[in-house]
Amino acid sequence: MGKILVLYHSQTGNTSKMAALVAEGVNAIPGMEVRLREVAEASPEDVIWCDGLACGCPTSMGIISWQMKRFWDEPMHNHWMKVDGKIACAFSSSGGIAGGSEIACQSILMVLMNFGFLTFGVTDYVSKLMTLHYGAVAVREPREEETKAACRMLGKRLAEWVAVFVDGRQEFHPNSQANRLKPG
Ligand SMILES: Cc1cc2nc3c(=O)[nH]c(=O)nc-3n(C[C@H](O)[C@H](O)[C@H](O)COP(=O)(O)O)c2cc1C
Repeated sequence: MGKILVLYHSQTGNTSKMAALVAEGVNAIPGMEVRLREVAEASPEDVIWCDGLACGCPTSMGIISWQMKRFWDEPMHNHWMKVDGKIACAFSSSGGIAGGSEIACQSILMVLMNFGFLTFGVTDYVSKLMTLHYGAVAVREPREEETKAACRMLGKRLAEWVAVFVDGRQEFHPNSQANRLKPG
């Protein structure tokens, strides 16, 4: 069954808490194997292993953090053109509202697109005022229930796409009625 990597960089622990919630969301879909890796401990083998990747870092000057960028610039450099077609999404923690977290998500996605990942956004709202169109975002740590729900939703959606496109389990398509009625 599908293999999911939640890869993150976190300086002060906020993105790390988001990553744990994203991994929790993956488990809403049965049969998924999840690896949670801080970028300093991750290796290219983790990326090669996975079918789906959730990649997160702090918003840094409005974009991807240099520590996460370095992982793709250096250890992953020799694997360019060898990881095409994996499914990917992004998440980011910022210091404040409008601090650039959505741009940081797009910055992560841009790097992943360069590597040939199939990237996606999420149309669903997790509450009246919270969605994750470009990835899950949080101001500092994910404290509010809706922010936590957005992180879980990201992991769940990644697992759904892996179930559908990698494992051929059509019943997990997010728009299928049967899937919408499932709890979690
Ligand atoms: C070098 C640096 C640049 C940052 N740039 C931004 C920024 O552009 N916008 C913002 O809202 N927060 C910015 N922050 C704050 C972090 O994004 C924020 O504190 C985040 O929650 C840290 O996540 P972490 O605990 O996972 O390290 C910056 C922090 C650092 C250290």
